[in-house]
Amino acid sequence: MTHFLELKSVSYSYQTMEAETLALKEISLQIEEGEFIAIVGPSGCGKSTLLNLICGLIQPDEGEILLKGKPMEEMAMNIGYMLQKDHLFEWRTIYSNVTLGLELQHKLDSNSRKRVDKMLKTYGLSEFAAARPSQLSGGMRQRAALIRTLAMEPELLLLDEPFSALDYQTRLSVCDDIYEILKKENKTAILVTHDLSEAISVGDRVVILGRRPAQIKNIITLSFDQDLTPIQRRNAKPFASYFNTIWKELQENECS
Ligand SMILES: Nc1ncnc2c1ncn2[C@@H]1O[C@H](COP(=O)(O)OP(=O)(O)OP(=O)(O)O)[C@@H](O)[C@H]1O
Ligand SMILES: [Mg+2]
Repeated sequence: MTHFLELKSVSYSYQTMEAETLALKEISLQIEEGEFIAIVGPSGCGKSTLLNLICGLIQPDEGEILLKGKPMEEMAMNIGYMLQKDHLFEWRTIYSNVTLGLELQHKLDSNSRKRVDKMLKTYGLSEFAAARPSQLSGGMRQRAALIRTLAMEPELLLLDEPFSALDYQTRLSVCDDIYEILKKENKTAILVTHDLSEAISVGDRVVILGRRPAQIKNIITLSFDQDLTPIQRRNAKPFASYFNTIWKELQENECS
């Protein structure tokens, strides 16, 4: 079977003048189209490294990464990457921030403008198109950053702790918003987070990584009775038991 994304026994080390740091060891993972995968693991275990490998910023030392069954070099997939910091430029308006990627790739035309206008409207930012980033709340800025990423029509979205700079309440509501946007756009997404509750509230599956060098400790498939928003999931019955299972796995990992 061909998977949307497949990692086959991927290992990666950082080389510095002083030392070699093995960050990831023999990671194998298959992800299907439309899936929302959450990745959790201890600080410094290699989560960001994993995303950097998936988007081709760095290459595995061993193993391979296949996109729709083909090696990355042969498969030009549009991958969106969203980080903890929103990287919005203060000297540009929100509109010219969200269209920046399109502009750089010479794809800013009437069609893409229409798409951006629609997203700004749907996601409540139309009125702020002419504003500067500093005039927006943290949550609005993250939404703008997401629109900028989605404007490029990525087939795969990588999210590296995108909510961690937000206060708790904003974080819950932005997570709800962003989840809804991604489901509506039927995107395949991989979210890295420190927050177990966040992972359980959005994921179809949660991948648990162990301490560095990171290996996959377990993959938990989440099943809720119906389609629930992240906030609704937090109040649903199976939530606490998933939390305990994943918490235990991470604790064992800390003590081993
Ligand atoms: N450029 C680099 N050069 C050398 N070592 C690095 C480099 N980047 C990361 N590392 C090391 O590789 C390991 C994995 O780093 P990575 O950033 O992927 O972890 P992480 O799980 O994303 O951490 P965090 O939870 O803090 O975001 C860490 O121990 C880190 O010290
Ligand atoms: Mg990281």
